[in-house]
Amino acid sequence: EGEAADPGAWDIGGHEHYMHKEICEQPDAVDRVLRGRIDDRFATVHLGGLGIDAREARGVRRVKILGCGSAFHAGQIGAQLIEELARIPADAEPASEFRYRNPVVDPDTLYIAVSQSGETYDTLAAVQELKRKGACVLGVVNVVGSAIAREADGGMYVHAGPEVCVVSTKCFTNTAVAFALLALHLGRVRDLSVADGKRIIAGLRRLPAQIAEILSAEEEIKKLAHSYADARSMMFVGRVRGYPVAREASLKLKEVSYVHAEAYPASELKHGPLALIEPDVPSVAIVPDDELLEKNRATLEEIKARHGRILAVAHAPQEAADDTIVVPHNEPELDPVLLGIPLQLLAYHAALALGRDIDKPRNLAKSVTVE
Ligand code: AGP
Repeated sequence: EGEAADPGAWDIGGHEHYMHKEICEQPDAVDRVLRGRIDDRFATVHLGGLGIDAREARGVRRVKILGCGSAFHAGQIGAQLIEELARIPADAEPASEFRYRNPVVDPDTLYIAVSQSGETYDTLAAVQELKRKGACVLGVVNVVGSAIAREADGGMYVHAGPEVCVVSTKCFTNTAVAFALLALHLGRVRDLSVADGKRIIAGLRRLPAQIAEILSAEEEIKKLAHSYADARSMMFVGRVRGYPVAREASLKLKEVSYVHAEAYPASELKHGPLALIEPDVPSVAIVPDDELLEKNRATLEEIKARHGRILAVAHAPQEAADDTIVVPHNEPELDPVLLGIPLQLLAYHAALALGRDIDKPRNLAKSVTVE
């Protein structure tokens, strides 16, 4: 595994910033992570470098995903996909925390380290600690041949191509899609039906065109970014599948625009954060058309009753919201991949409007190789 990325990838092209270029590259990047892996006959995927056979995959009792920052958020999406499609209990944890807490290492748990650079010290140290204790560790990594890719027992490359902007966009998306592939693979060696396998494969194939459709609304998103960029602080909320999307969008906004943002599960608002809602603290709500739609609509009403401004990202316009960015619907399990894309553009245009140093935000490094 690990073909060379597009040689033109380091060229900024006609874009003003790498962040913009990398957001726009996502239809092609997602196409690359899918390429050559789908097996229509058995409604599954082939992941050549995984290094665990079907019998071992069936023996996995838990999955623990480790990563930092955006890689951790992509891992949260991954954990939900693995639970939904393969019905294996899974969760994600910041790698930086995991390695400091003398974790119980269980032989039936599959550990997965996630990293764009493959060099993040905290994630690498977690992998080394796990291996020292005899665990099986896979890597879900972008940079071919990086330290984490070398240390892991096996894994998969996410094939996003070089990501130059410090703020991760295309690699986050490709990592989420890579987890969908892994979840499909684990599901199909267990109890996921052929029909569901085909449904997910069809959904995966729709993603590149749907991402392109979202990106074509850039002008509208830019206007919204200008109208929200003067916020004192922003609240990002989502439930279950929408929660990691909210976390990642909140991280994106604060990293690149320096606007303070918080992410909460929508269900937790009434347990405290509602106290922050007022007219100059707008909320971004992730409102997919899934089994939680009515619950999410109730959240919009709660925010509106406190005079909070609301920007919804949804599959249809939301009456209680001041603005809605409508995104195309895929399969419910794959919707998180699409729901965050407009919020990358929102963060980019907010940062541009505020005159920030977009590709190199203050105090941040692309790869944190120190403790
Ligand atoms: C993403 O926008 C961040 N700059 C940061 O959180 C990053 O995802 C994190 O440092 C992990 O990096 P890695 O994926 O290279 O391990």
